[in-house]
Amino acid sequence: MTRTRRPLSSLLKQLATTPVSDARSLLSRFPSGFASDDRSEHGRRVYDFWSEHRGLYDAFLDLALFGREGRARRRALSVLDLDAGKRVLDLGCGPGVNFDALAERVGPAGRVVGLDSSRGMVRAARKRAARAPAPTAVLWGDATTLPTRKNSFDAAYATLSLSAMPDPESAIENLHEVLRPGGRLVVLDARPFRTGAWRALNPIVVPPATYATNWYPEADIPGAIRRTFADAACWRTNAGSLYVATGRKSE
Ligand SMILES: C[S@@+](CC[C@H](N)C(=O)[O-])C[C@H]1O[C@@H](n2cnc3c(N)ncnc32)[C@H](O)[C@@H]1O
Repeated sequence: MTRTRRPLSSLLKQLATTPVSDARSLLSRFPSGFASDDRSEHGRRVYDFWSEHRGLYDAFLDLALFGREGRARRRALSVLDLDAGKRVLDLGCGPGVNFDALAERVGPAGRVVGLDSSRGMVRAARKRAARAPAPTAVLWGDATTLPTRKNSFDAAYATLSLSAMPDPESAIENLHEVLRPGGRLVVLDARPFRTGAWRALNPIVVPPATYATNWYPEADIPGAIRRTFADAACWRTNAGSLYVATGRKSE
């Protein structure tokens, strides 16, 4: 997913090039086509849909994040501080946007494992994994019941995924379990604007983002990391709406 510097024009361009049949499908499936009493099932349907309309999704996300996501991603990667030979879990990996950067850092002796609950995203991620410069596997599964062994990862990474989950707290507890002692969790995520006049934009930005991305804007993810991990820290940007939160599993 390449992020552009002109979020609004990028979204308009994507809309203008969306085939009529896709536009009809988009309108007819949002939101009733995803309706389900099961919130996890609802999320899977939303992301299965976006896995088929990735250009539009990228452009929408870019606009919702004011094109500031690239800097936050770079910061998150640098905090993750991966070395060659490490094993890293990318939770809610989507179509595998992080794979190249993670694989470059862990190298051929390391391993990247992506996990996602949307089958459409898993299919897209597997294609990307096949081209990654380190062994990269993609699992279909849910963050609340991780199909991985305890203490099996040196690092865990979750970008824009925990706030798309109905129960991020239990996902964070599971990440704690699968990390080895001393292992690090790094989360990049979004929440409503928190400071100054920017907060006036929340009523405009939050409802469409919640609707379109199955977002849980009220989730206190930094708080859950603080409660579960040692050495928790949080770096904020974009009027507090984008943050990188980290924690380390005690030795
Ligand atoms: C906004 S996308 C982020 C994708 C990617 N990490 C990125 O940085 O662009 C959120 C992803 O989280 C996945 N997801 C949501 N709930 C999940 C859950 N309970 N378990 C695993 N993945 C989940 C979605 O399927 C989707 O691919």
